[in-house]
Amino acid sequence: MKIKQNYYIETYGCQMNVSDSELIISVLDNDDYEKVESIDNADIILFNTCSVREHAEQRVLGRVSNERHRKIQKPGLKIGILGCMAQRLGERLINEDLGIDFAIGVDQYHALPQILKEDCGAELNFDFNQVYEGIIPKHQGEHCAFITIMRGCNNFCSYCIVPHVRGRERSRPYSDIKKDIEDALKSNMLDITLLGQNVNSYLFEDKAFPTLLKQIEKDFPDIERLRFITSHPKDLSDELIEVMAESSMLCNHIHLPMQSGNNEVLSRMSRSYSFDDYMLIVNKLRKAVPDIALTTDLIAGFPGESEAQFKDTLQAMSDICFDYAFCFKYSPREGTEAASYENQVKEPERLRRLQEMIELQRKITLDKYKAMIGKEVEVYVEGFSKKSKKKVSGKSRDFKICVLTGSASDIGSIMRAKVIDATAGTLICE
Ligand code: SAH
Ligand code: SF4
Ligand code: F3S
Repeated sequence: MKIKQNYYIETYGCQMNVSDSELIISVLDNDDYEKVESIDNADIILFNTCSVREHAEQRVLGRVSNERHRKIQKPGLKIGILGCMAQRLGERLINEDLGIDFAIGVDQYHALPQILKEDCGAELNFDFNQVYEGIIPKHQGEHCAFITIMRGCNNFCSYCIVPHVRGRERSRPYSDIKKDIEDALKSNMLDITLLGQNVNSYLFEDKAFPTLLKQIEKDFPDIERLRFITSHPKDLSDELIEVMAESSMLCNHIHLPMQSGNNEVLSRMSRSYSFDDYMLIVNKLRKAVPDIALTTDLIAGFPGESEAQFKDTLQAMSDICFDYAFCFKYSPREGTEAASYENQVKEPERLRRLQEMIELQRKITLDKYKAMIGKEVEVYVEGFSKKSKKKVSGKSRDFKICVLTGSASDIGSIMRAKVIDATAGTLICE
């Protein structure tokens, strides 16, 4: 009998990376490798990494430096970097004395077993057609499944490293998406999120994104909740809004990154929409799906952002009242256009703006959540609450965390509950 090598994998970054790790697990488990839950038992340690901000990369380098001592006790142990950071830094990761044995880029996962056996070092070639056709990821979640429908990005927003490390847009064949959803449903995962850097650009043969959604609804009536991330505002079509309005499967939530509320900043970000364009979409969405929850991404301290321009973003936040906003401090990424812009905002100022943004959003979220008190919500119970084993928690259809009294037998079920109180991150229900 062949002895399998044990590997341990840790994932950083966005849901795309979580989904890629599930793909990697599928590839390795079908070969001579076995996944272990404890790093202590690993022969190979894999970090699937993110490059979107400097901090994300520093964290992984910190993790590697914490774990490399294991090589002294276990001389054959290998540490590998996968994902966006491998793609960005490649050989540099291996050549510097960091304890890293290999770096494998985002389009080479199908060849992982081979690469591991041959001790290749760095495998970073882009393959702009790579959609891992025929490989079905092994879902690791219990209740929510994330399903990649497209890879890469063509947008080149001036601050963003993603198109540089993920390559060009390409869509996954529907036959594979279908198998992936079938697998998720077989494991009783009732909440399905379709993934792509810009799902609105999905195009396979003649199927565009709204058609894909309709097809999934038709083929899989058992899905309880269907979601998608992320939508670029410039590509959000009226047809998609129509599908959202008509569908009972699609959740009443959309993540629509605004980034800034100032036109000049948006233009220097190469976002291809103005604040008015963004507002027009928000109004259309709210008209078509009246109780829709809206979440967004925002960047504080983009190069050249003046205090007045920053205030425009705060004003936009107050006007739109997002249910939640992921706020980020601008992080210059080598090789992106914005990193070479003059008048970068100083670090302490970026931090101050970020804190102001977070504080404002906290208040807006709290108001929004408080306004839910007395209303009924549908909760898909995903597990025990972090604070008490007498309470369970899950998400509402509009993507809010809910906590309610319950027991182990409620986990995995869909319950109706009434909101009795709220914090800036949780609806307390009964
Ligand atoms: N494709 C998605 C997500 C991209 S990354 C989209 O277009 O929305 C997620 C978020 O990270 C972005 O929306 C942006 O707000 C943030 N981000 C990307 N690059 C960044 C940078 N250099 N500094 C700070 N935040 C950044
Ligand atoms: Fe980055 Fe823009 Fe592409 Fe999103 S759309 S991944 S922010 S370049
Ligand atoms: Fe995702 Fe980070 Fe890569 S956000 S696409 S893992 S750079």
